[in-house]
Amino acid sequence: MTSSAEPTYTLVVVSNRLPVDYDEAADGAVTWRTSPGGLVTALEPLMRSSHGAWVGWPGVADRDFEPFENDGISLVPVRLNETDIEDYYEGFSNDTLWPLYHDVIAPPSFHRETWDAYVRVNRRFAAAAAAVAAPGATVWVHDYQLQLVPRMLREARPDLVIGFFNHIPFPPYGIYAQLPWRKQILHGLLGADVIGFQRVADAGNFTQAVRRLFGYPTRGVVIDVPTGDGPIGQTGDSRRVIAKHFPISIDAASYEELARRPDIQARARQIREDLGNPKTLMLGVDRLDYTKGIGHRLKAFGELLADGRLSVEDVTLVQVASPSRERVSTYMALRDEIELAVGRLNGDFSTISHTAISYHHHSYPREEMVAMYLAADVMLVTALRDGMNLVAKEYVAVRFDVDGVLVLSEFAGAADELKQAILINPHDIDGTKDAIVRAVEMPKRERTRRMRSLRRKVAENDVAAWSASFLRALTGGAAVPAGIPDD
Ligand code: G6P
Repeated sequence: MTSSAEPTYTLVVVSNRLPVDYDEAADGAVTWRTSPGGLVTALEPLMRSSHGAWVGWPGVADRDFEPFENDGISLVPVRLNETDIEDYYEGFSNDTLWPLYHDVIAPPSFHRETWDAYVRVNRRFAAAAAAVAAPGATVWVHDYQLQLVPRMLREARPDLVIGFFNHIPFPPYGIYAQLPWRKQILHGLLGADVIGFQRVADAGNFTQAVRRLFGYPTRGVVIDVPTGDGPIGQTGDSRRVIAKHFPISIDAASYEELARRPDIQARARQIREDLGNPKTLMLGVDRLDYTKGIGHRLKAFGELLADGRLSVEDVTLVQVASPSRERVSTYMALRDEIELAVGRLNGDFSTISHTAISYHHHSYPREEMVAMYLAADVMLVTALRDGMNLVAKEYVAVRFDVDGVLVLSEFAGAADELKQAILINPHDIDGTKDAIVRAVEMPKRERTRRMRSLRRKVAENDVAAWSASFLRALTGGAAVPAGIPDD
């Protein structure tokens, strides 16, 4: 499968998106921009240090690119045409799997054509990875868009060590069972040697689905997957697959480093000043996605202003909602809904000198985000369901001043580790309102005590620890692959 001219790598990462998106301006100028989402943040440091290859889509339709190097990472682009984007990416990945795996907050659609596209595109990613993987290489496949790749890779290249990490939740069986292709997806995932999840509960849901649908024996994190026809245990022809939680993290030190830069601290002060130096600055940072609970957050904030428990003279909410999946209808409807709510609240409560909500439908460079985190007294993470939520960890990593209050939904994976946040159920609007007031009024001593404990957690399990522990489980304790091309 590997032509002799092609470089091969001992570590190959496969994800739907490359870490950079292709962008061409009207004047023809080409730039490669950091692509959206937490995955890039999480994997970039590992890829840079291990000189591996990254297989993924460059974020643009119908364009062929030769493999190239960007910022110390070898990138292997996979082509998607317009129909692939509509059916595999916007359709099956983001209109079927995404809502299904996030507790059906939005109704998932089930269409046979988009499933066919999912299979076809997964095959293309598997072929691309197989073409650049050295004999016996480690291939690490990421996220819900590529759940069939592990099995396809194993069939093409039984020599490979294959890992899979699911960045989003894995739903309880009662929800998962709705999927018409529930067996095919499980079969696809079970092609991996190690299947990683964010939370203990996600791994448990997966293992339960395997038991219910296939009846394979499971012991704790180990699943015995039969490889032949004989009964398991008698012929010994089964493979051990590990399904376990590995909570993802961020490169905490690099966030702190940015936060310590005088120019970024000056920018943080400037942000507060430009907002009229409110007593309390609250911040929300999310992709504009219905899983993030932005509407619930706005409702709670609006009621607090209406009740007079908060006032625009004292408190401003900065909401960054970065554009996401803008051609999927549920996302279009969400944008209208959120922007209507923001407009109403500002209309009802803003004064000439004080804006209730400073709303930004943009994505910003990391430096600007760090300045916002530094400027914010209270960080609101109110997701209705979220695999991890790296924004919560970024906020904590940035606050080297050991100040600031994190209000965190218990439905975000981060809540398993960040127990010293103010944990909320975002569906409980009264509870959320009380938590916000508590955050605004929290005495300095308590803020420091909580933030110190949160920072310890994030520092202990940073992204390097996360990837090392996953790769250790995958390679059975062998050294992390160096990934040097061996052409
Ligand atoms: C989440 C997913 C990622 C995805 C990101 C951005 O973090 O887990 O797989 O890349 O959202 O979404 P997008 O559809 O723009 O890639």
